[in-house]
Amino acid sequence: MSQNPRIALIGAGNVGGNLGILLARSGFSIRFGVREGKDLKDVLARCEGRADVTSVPEAAKWADVIILAVPGNAVVEAAGSLGDISGKVLVDCNNPLRWDDGPVHTPPPEGSLTAALAKAFPKARVVKGFSTFGSEFHLDPKIGTTSVDVQLAGDDAEAKALVASIATRAGFTPIDVGPMRNAAHLESLAILWIHLALRAGQGREVAFKLLKRG
Ligand SMILES: NC(=O)c1ccc[n+]([C@@H]2O[C@H](COP(=O)([O-])OP(=O)(O)OC[C@H]3O[C@@H](n4cnc5c(N)ncnc54)[C@H](OP(=O)(O)O)[C@@H]3O)[C@@H](O)[C@H]2O)c1
Repeated sequence: MSQNPRIALIGAGNVGGNLGILLARSGFSIRFGVREGKDLKDVLARCEGRADVTSVPEAAKWADVIILAVPGNAVVEAAGSLGDISGKVLVDCNNPLRWDDGPVHTPPPEGSLTAALAKAFPKARVVKGFSTFGSEFHLDPKIGTTSVDVQLAGDDAEAKALVASIATRAGFTPIDVGPMRNAAHLESLAILWIHLALRAGQGREVAFKLLKRG
């Protein structure tokens, strides 16, 4: 698989916008897929000429890797508007939650949004990633010299390795956390992050890091 994949961002909000800017600045060709009437001038201006914007299906058709960053309750519907994504890598940044004086985990019957996507689009190569930290880190993945961890879960080793290489080039530290079933743990971890950041007083400039002795 190409080491210089074309990357589409579906959803250009906090996560998709920031990650698209970072990936463009890291040298990738970026296309934002947006719904009609969306103005992305400010985001594109920050992409150093390496990004453009099209409709959602056009962006998906063009891309090798599609990064989906939409509200958790719109994930499967949004993926349904991509068109034929057979063989493409689909990165799921999303988290299922509702708000009840704090974040409450609301996984779908499949156990995780990632598993729901894989079930609905069995020919896509689904990887969970970029989901367990706040969107500030999607733009700036380092604290001092320490890179934020991007935990990756999925059953397709080659697809995970490609996403890991993208993450590394953008300045993150990728950590392979195993098969698709472990995406459920990442979604729980994200809910914990939201609680820590927004309810427990830690603030948004925190992230989980795997420490290793020696
Ligand atoms: N915010 C964070 O710090 C953070 C961190 C990690 C993970 N996440 C997860 O990342 C996902 C995105 O969060 P966000 O904060 O970036 O949300 P956001 O700022 O609200 O952006 C959501 C984006 O999704 C687009 N969208 C919504 N429905 C769509 C559809 N059916 N088809 C195509 N595009 C659609 C919206 O476009 P329109 O303008 O057209 O509605 C918007 O650009 C969520 O699942 C969240 O749990 C968020």
